[in-house]
Amino acid sequence: MIANRLGHPHLGMGVGLRTVHFDYILENHPPVDWFEIISENFMDSRGRPRYVLEQIAERYPVVMHGVSLSIGSTDQLNFEYLPKLKALANEIKPLWISDHVCWTGVAGRNTHDLLPMPLTEASLKHVVERIRTVQDFLERPFVFENPSTYVGFTGSTLSEWEFIARMAEDANCGLLLDVNNVYVSSVNHDFDPEEFIRSVPHERVVQFHLAGHTNRQTHLIDTHDNHVVDPVWNLYRLAHQLTGGVSTLLEWDAKIPPFPVLHAEVLKAKQHIGEELADTRIATVSMEQETDAMGISEDDLAVPHPLHHIAAEVI
Ligand SMILES: [Fe+2]
Repeated sequence: MIANRLGHPHLGMGVGLRTVHFDYILENHPPVDWFEIISENFMDSRGRPRYVLEQIAERYPVVMHGVSLSIGSTDQLNFEYLPKLKALANEIKPLWISDHVCWTGVAGRNTHDLLPMPLTEASLKHVVERIRTVQDFLERPFVFENPSTYVGFTGSTLSEWEFIARMAEDANCGLLLDVNNVYVSSVNHDFDPEEFIRSVPHERVVQFHLAGHTNRQTHLIDTHDNHVVDPVWNLYRLAHQLTGGVSTLLEWDAKIPPFPVLHAEVLKAKQHIGEELADTRIATVSMEQETDAMGISEDDLAVPHPLHHIAAEVI
């Protein structure tokens, strides 16, 4: 029985809130346990997105997940971004706020991607100091996620799990363990994903992410556009055992299926950890319903990213 999670509750099985599901959620109030929002989708918006979010936050627990903090960059921390993040949190009252262990740009330029950290003592010290500053400013512990990565630095001297474990302890922050990202990176960099999951400080894991990815044979890409694969479910089971169970969230960001398919996918997690499904209707979404809704074009094969859901969707 590890679960400490910085005192945060186990919210159950949730899904990422995406614009295409706004109407369905408002009309049907599906029995999903909680939602995760992309912070940047709502920070500068009023109007309908904010109205919908307020409706949802009244009925469901909500957590904020960002993609622009750039905690690893050598640029100064962005004190235009952070006050907006804090203001949104004060309004929405999320259970916690998360972002990624990465950098998104340097020298004032934004790559709109989650870039890998050099895994060295110097970058660890740099990130820990910045996390402390962010947490002091936001007046709450922050939660950091391991990203999927495709390249690494030859100068790295630490494994990713050593870096993340020491970062979490030294900065006193929480961890969002993205189990799919562990698997994607383990294939791309040829490491043992179980060692990663066994090595992070389990009492600091506040949340899990699950998602599908694309297998390009020579490497995996974190596309968030499909079902969760069996090796990831196996790792999820291990992570569940080691942490004692934490809030679990399914991300689906491209070829987004109808809401019942999304919900059914995250509820599979219950079966993988030996829990009963309370509502069997949710778990039996027909294949036709799924394929109809997924109406996929070749254009969708571009690598998706949560950032794609910022400007385009917030209208
Ligand atoms: Fe994730």
